[in-house]
Amino acid sequence: MNVLKAENLSKIYGNRSNIQTKAIDSLSLSVKKGEFLGVMGPSGSGKTTMLNLLSTIDTPSSGTVEINGQSVSHIPKGKLAQFRRREMGFVFQDFNLLDTLTIEENIVLPLTLDKVNLKDMETRLKEAAQKLGIDQILKKRTYEVSGGQIQRAAIARAIIHDPSIIFADEPTGNLDSKASRQVMESFEILHEEQKASILMVTHDPFAASFCERIIFIKDGRLFTEIYKGDNRQIFFQDILNVLSILGGNTDDFQTVRI
Ligand SMILES: Nc1ncnc2c1ncn2[C@@H]1O[C@H](COP(=O)(O)OP(=O)(O)O)[C@@H](O)[C@H]1O
Ligand SMILES: [Mg+2]
Repeated sequence: MNVLKAENLSKIYGNRSNIQTKAIDSLSLSVKKGEFLGVMGPSGSGKTTMLNLLSTIDTPSSGTVEINGQSVSHIPKGKLAQFRRREMGFVFQDFNLLDTLTIEENIVLPLTLDKVNLKDMETRLKEAAQKLGIDQILKKRTYEVSGGQIQRAAIARAIIHDPSIIFADEPTGNLDSKASRQVMESFEILHEEQKASILMVTHDPFAASFCERIIFIKDGRLFTEIYKGDNRQIFFQDILNVLSILGGNTDDFQTVRI
């Protein structure tokens, strides 16, 4: 079963001098329930645009997006924010946690908005914090903990309401290699133990090597896709090989680590 299915998506941006950019060009893709899918591609290939179309933040010029079998174009505009809040979890490069709240308050924020009762909140908070190894820092504020801990708190916030799918945009983009590894291991735990469905955009071949499948995008179109076998190190090499064929700005790709 698919949690996400996009067919023939296109997105054309216009500007004042009427020069049009086809940022996404007849792209189809799906995410199976419980799948951990990575999306890679050179700078400007359309990754962010694609993520925005899939997560209903932006609307396509043509094509369809279904989340859990529901066509998102049929959801009234006024209900989209609620739909996103219930069905989706988001993890961003720059964390997006509020400095004025404790880690714990940040994590339960989606539940507060949906008026979940306190006891339920406590249970879910404990479970998520334990899974992500951040139970010791729940009373602290963002400036008292490390970047890796903040990002794991952001992941806890993204999963606290048990969304159908988690969208992550460069989740290791602001982290050093140790914190990146911790964050990717957290995603791996969610994927393996909780059967979370995850779609992650990344420039980082190390982060990508934790995915089950990676699709590569070039000029808004599907370039190729590869699957992980049993071995992450071999998959990492496969990823580097595709990236070297794909070309683009090699500065985009972070230094090699494994
Ligand atoms: N709001 C916008 N208006 C016009 N062009 C845009 C806009 N956003 C992105 N683009 C263009 O669409 C293409 C894809 O951009 P983007 O989705 O940001 O790529 P990526 O995330 O892979 O770097 C690029 O050519 C970019 O310049
Ligand atoms: Mg981008």
